[in-house]
Amino acid sequence: MSTLEIGGVRVDTLAKEYGTPLYIYNEGKIKQKLADFKTYFRSDVFKTDVLYASKAFSVVAMYKLVKEYHCGIDVVSGGELYTAKAADFPMENVYFHGNNKSLDELRMAIDYKVGTIVVDNLMEAEVLVELMKDAKYQIHTLVRVNPGIDAHTHKYIVTANIDSKFGISIQYSEKIAELIKTLQSSSNIIFDGFHAHIGSQIFDKNAFVTEIETLFAFGKKLKDEYNISINTIDLGGGFAAFYTKEDAPIPLPAVCSTIIQTCEREEHHYELGVKHILIEPGRSIVGEAGYTLYSVGFMKETANKNYIFIDGGMSDNIRPALYGAAYDADIANRMDEKKVKHYKIAGKCCESGDIIIEDVVLPEHVERGDLLVTYTTGAYGYSMASHYNKNLMPAVVFVENGTTRVVVERETYNDLLRKEVK
Ligand code: LLP
Repeated sequence: MSTLEIGGVRVDTLAKEYGTPLYIYNEGKIKQKLADFKTYFRSDVFKTDVLYASKAFSVVAMYKLVKEYHCGIDVVSGGELYTAKAADFPMENVYFHGNNKSLDELRMAIDYKVGTIVVDNLMEAEVLVELMKDAKYQIHTLVRVNPGIDAHTHKYIVTANIDSKFGISIQYSEKIAELIKTLQSSSNIIFDGFHAHIGSQIFDKNAFVTEIETLFAFGKKLKDEYNISINTIDLGGGFAAFYTKEDAPIPLPAVCSTIIQTCEREEHHYELGVKHILIEPGRSIVGEAGYTLYSVGFMKETANKNYIFIDGGMSDNIRPALYGAAYDADIANRMDEKKVKHYKIAGKCCESGDIIIEDVVLPEHVERGDLLVTYTTGAYGYSMASHYNKNLMPAVVFVENGTTRVVVERETYNDLLRKEVK
């Protein structure tokens, strides 16, 4: 029986030491992705920056890695901001997003001297002007616009969707101009340009091309009609990860060079004076580096299915239940056995929808105590985990070159009741 190793560490050793379910990250893979984005997202014309979209996986150890690789971050809540601060993340490289930041969150951001606020709507702009009145520094801003491009998975569509909760549709140029003029009325606020985000798990480079063309054309309109100039364009995230053999993510060098070349061409064409281009990958940085290790518990044969029950489920990975997301798996202590039999992998939560994999082929012989590993769980797994059924949050470990470090400890039943008033 051969056993899976991740980052040079056998997973049965990890299971013994840290228990299951267990989130395992191959730290070397995360570092490689950060380095690759830095290498390939470069231009001779623009300053370029890669912001890690930290909603994908937000822990102190991750912010420290991002800092080490000189990337910025996107945060969307006081909690993410607080976690970044605990990692001593340089606040000037923080971009604070969100359609409904609370007053407390905005105050906290200003107190921390966050570099950039991505302003979502006019009410937020007005509040920010008020809050920045007595500030002792200048804060940068981007305005979130909705370019009307919807790119999810394999398709992208140009929509007339003006009803998204995020940003302001570019069909309302007057409203956007008013918002920008509001920001510019404060001497403590610098308006830099636009932000847009067109979707997640995008497989088609042309979606980004259309996004860029749309944003540059819109920049030209604002310049001509409202005398507003932009310096910065932030294109958001959405770069796909590999989950199953159905997926063919665009190789990083190709998607980066398409984005850079399109921006260079559009700037050459419109001469807007854009100097700074940013992207915000989340999933593509941490997704494939993450694995979830479970123990096989009971098994059951129904009329049409061979069930394997695992000791986690929708509480540590909500994505199959929420989005119908597909994953691949192996029996990690039987890596050399022929995969011949179809199984359905179900969790232990009290809900029929608690299925991790609908259909996966694994070895003929699987038994209680075997280890089941699911791949590409590094993004939106831990970060969307819950305490449903009062299940404990698993530990998170980083492995690299044969060594392991715990970055989040496994919860105890005591932790579960810590905030309850008894
Ligand atoms: N920037 C903004 C403004 C975003 O809203 C997002 C993701 C990203 C960047 C990063 O996108 P990524 O590169 O990770 O695709 N929970 C869902 C994904 C929600 C993504 C929301 N926004 C999932 O598990 O598939």
